[in-house]
Amino acid sequence: MLKIRVINGPNLNLLGTREPQVYGNTTLESIENILRREAGEYGVKIEFFQSNHEGAITDCIHEAANTGCDGLILNPGAYTHYSYAIRDAIAATGIPTVEVHLSNIHSREDFREKSVIAPVCLGQVSGLGAVSYSAALFALVKKLKEARAGGSREG
Ligand code: DQA
Repeated sequence: MLKIRVINGPNLNLLGTREPQVYGNTTLESIENILRREAGEYGVKIEFFQSNHEGAITDCIHEAANTGCDGLILNPGAYTHYSYAIRDAIAATGIPTVEVHLSNIHSREDFREKSVIAPVCLGQVSGLGAVSYSAALFALVKKLKEARAGGSREG
C-alpha cells in the first residue's frame, strides 16, 4: 500500500485563526481529516507532521524516506522562499514531493513569488485554499500509482 506523508511548516498550526482573509477559516486538523478520508478512498496510507522548525522538517523528510514513505505533500510555509536545507533534503532523498500553498504565492508580495523548493518537486499547487492539499494528494497518488505500475504515461 502506498504511504504518503503530509508535512506542514511554520505557522500552519495556526490555520483557522491566522489571517483568515488570506488562508481561510479551515483549521489544520480539518484539512488533515479531509485528507485522511480522501486517502482512504484512494486506498493509500497517510500520516501527518507539522513543525515550526527547519531542522525538524529536514529530519522528518529524511525519516520519511528511510521508513518507506512513497511521497510527500509539503507546505513549507515561509521556508518555501529561502530554505536550501529543506530543498536539499528533498533532492538528497529523492522522495517524490508535491509542494502546496493555500494562498496564491504568485499574486502576493514579491518575496513570495520565488520558491526555492519547487525545482526539486514534482509540481506545485498554489492558491486553492484547503483544496490545494486535496489536489496535491490526487496528483501525487496518480503519479505514484503510475510509477509503481511501471508506466511512463504522462498527464
Ligand atoms: C503559504 C505561503 C507562504 O508564503 C507563507 O509564508 C505561509 C503559507 C501558503 O500556504 O499559502 O506560511 O505557504
